[in-house]
Amino acid sequence: MPEGKQVQAMFTGIAGRYDLLNHVLSGGIDFYWWWRMARRSGAAPGQRFLDVAAGTGDSSLALARRGAEVLSTDFTHAMLRLGPAKFRRKGFADLIWASSDADAQALPFKDATFDGLTICYGIRNVEDRARAYGEFLRVLRPEGRLTILEFSTPVLPGLRQVYDWYSLKVLPRIGGWISGDPGAYTYLPESIRGFPDQARLAGELEAAGFASVAWTNLTGGIVALHTGVKPAE
Ligand SMILES: C[S@@+](CC[C@H](N)C(=O)[O-])C[C@H]1O[C@@H](n2cnc3c(N)ncnc32)[C@H](O)[C@@H]1O
Repeated sequence: MPEGKQVQAMFTGIAGRYDLLNHVLSGGIDFYWWWRMARRSGAAPGQRFLDVAAGTGDSSLALARRGAEVLSTDFTHAMLRLGPAKFRRKGFADLIWASSDADAQALPFKDATFDGLTICYGIRNVEDRARAYGEFLRVLRPEGRLTILEFSTPVLPGLRQVYDWYSLKVLPRIGGWISGDPGAYTYLPESIRGFPDQARLAGELEAAGFASVAWTNLTGGIVALHTGVKPAE
């Protein structure tokens, strides 16, 4: 696991090409995954959401499209600063605010502030996940929901081989070519392989104190949606 500063440097380097790369490398299915995330999160008008590790804000936009108010935050300023222009262009500037550069392990928000908290493709890069889960529990209101969208372990027969070939051979080449940083797109498949599978991630959330922990595989488990609820007081 690279240190926070290395992660920030990597995302600072690729920020300008990040959106394009997401759409190209996923073949456009990234929009569907965000849409499923937002639906599962319970985002709705009148709800206040925190989108941690929001990057350039596409995950936050998916929540705002469901009518929630969203605070979009990240510890890489170069990523976060690209959000507001996009929010205005898409007509959601009245629902989303890009806030202070916040580390998932030390969130600068008061206890019990948010109805929901999301983190999409971010928790894999966090050095101390247990500390981040503690922060998620702290800033969620009782019965508030955590939703994690993250790369996971393919479960469909045969998919694993195709996915390994694509993520180890094809993705680093295209990613390195478009972003100009081959290292960032070699790191991506490596970090996915080192990340807990669906059941282990669920176990971490339960151990941290979340209730009603569950997960859904999307696209055969290439990504998974995990949810957990902060217990009522
Ligand atoms: C792959 S991007 C995901 C962006 C966005 N959520 C999306 O769905 O496109 C991962 C983001 O996580 C952020 N990140 C990684 N570790 C973090 C941490 N400890 N605290 C806050 N943000 C972090 C990075 O700066 C980067 O912008």
